[in-house]
Amino acid sequence: MAQKRAVLAVLLFLPINLVEALNRLSVEAGHEAVLNCPNISKVHFLMVTWKRSCSSCCLLSYRSDQNKMSRKNCSERIMWEYSPDSDPALRIYPVNLEDEGNYICETVNSEGTFRFFSSLTVIVPPIVTLTHVKSRVAVCQASAGKPAADISWIPASNHSSEEEFHHPNGTVTRVSYFGWTSSSFPSVTCLVTHPAMNQTLVMDLRYTSHRLLYILLGAAAGVSAVTGVTLCLIFRCRACWLCKWTQQSTTIKTYHFPPSRVRREAVQPPQCPERIYENYSPRSVYVCL
Ligand SMILES: *[C@@H]1O[C@H](CO)[C@@H](O)[C@H](O)[C@H]1NC(C)=O
Ligand SMILES: *[C@@H]1O[C@H](CO)[C@@H](O)[C@H](O)[C@H]1NC(C)=O
Ligand SMILES: *[C@@H]1O[C@H](CO)[C@@H](O)[C@H](O)[C@H]1NC(C)=O
Ligand SMILES: *[C@@H]1O[C@H](CO)[C@@H](O)[C@H](O)[C@H]1NC(C)=O
Ligand SMILES: *[C@@H]1O[C@H](CO)[C@@H](O)[C@H](O)[C@H]1NC(C)=O
Repeated sequence: MAQKRAVLAVLLFLPINLVEALNRLSVEAGHEAVLNCPNISKVHFLMVTWKRSCSSCCLLSYRSDQNKMSRKNCSERIMWEYSPDSDPALRIYPVNLEDEGNYICETVNSEGTFRFFSSLTVIVPPIVTLTHVKSRVAVCQASAGKPAADISWIPASNHSSEEEFHHPNGTVTRVSYFGWTSSSFPSVTCLVTHPAMNQTLVMDLRYTSHRLLYILLGAAAGVSAVTGVTLCLIFRCRACWLCKWTQQSTTIKTYHFPPSRVRREAVQPPQCPERIYENYSPRSVYVCL
């Protein structure tokens, strides 16, 4: 105890030698980060401590005179890279977004206290997709990247626009829309550049145009089917109403329906509503038309 106090007393009155050097480190999430603590003094350290510039963050220390390590609030992902006595480098593996920040390595020896600062930036490669939304608009999306990815197009377009979404975890999604006015070029290329990756995606515009044509034909068929069903229902109801009306007014017995393909039994008033719903299926569309 007395020895400990003596050491502390000595340490308290020693000067603090701030090491101006700032080590900047950029590591991809999921990878390994090694933060170095350079040995700049001629004298071996008594104690080395790694801490972050936040109050409740991890504190990792080693006392060489007692060969004792201590950890306070450190996740199991944070460890010494080597034996701290030989090299007090810090290892974080796997790195995640919360590890981003400033780290201080503090070494204490008979010459004083030395602080070495490290700044860790965590980068996340985006997920890249190239699709098309409607006729003549291609969409290139770089999702949840950190920092935001840059999107460019080949050929360069005057009709491209960009949107950006910031996520709470610090990642950014960028969406670029490419509009082409003429089909003079057979394909469009989306280039995504990011510190963690570069990606090139190509879309065949001729194929897309054909697909779009099919989509449009499909949509047209859908619209005519819906119209058919609606007309069918309208005519049925008119038929129902007419047949009800003929039953009530017995004087007009000679009334005849205009020639149509509406089945006779559907005209019977009591069954009418059920029949309508019963026939509300894609097959009846063709029957009615
Ligand atoms: C680093 O530490 C060792 C002992 O641990 C010491 O001999 C050496 O002088 C120190 N300084 C440098 C700059 O290597
Ligand atoms: C450890 O971290 C948690 C939050 O992550 C905090 O609430 C707690 O106070 C910290 N403990 C110490 C001893 O710093
Ligand atoms: C873009 O617009 C400029 C004029 O605003 C024009 O000179 C250029 O040819 C256009 N480029 C493309 C690819 O349409
Ligand atoms: C960040 O948040 C976005 C949106 O919530 C999510 O899609 C993405 O996976 C997150 N990234 C990381 C690395 O947690
Ligand atoms: C991406 O491409 C740029 C040049 O366009 C290059 O400087 C950079 O190193 C590349 N990055 C990766 C991760 O390949």
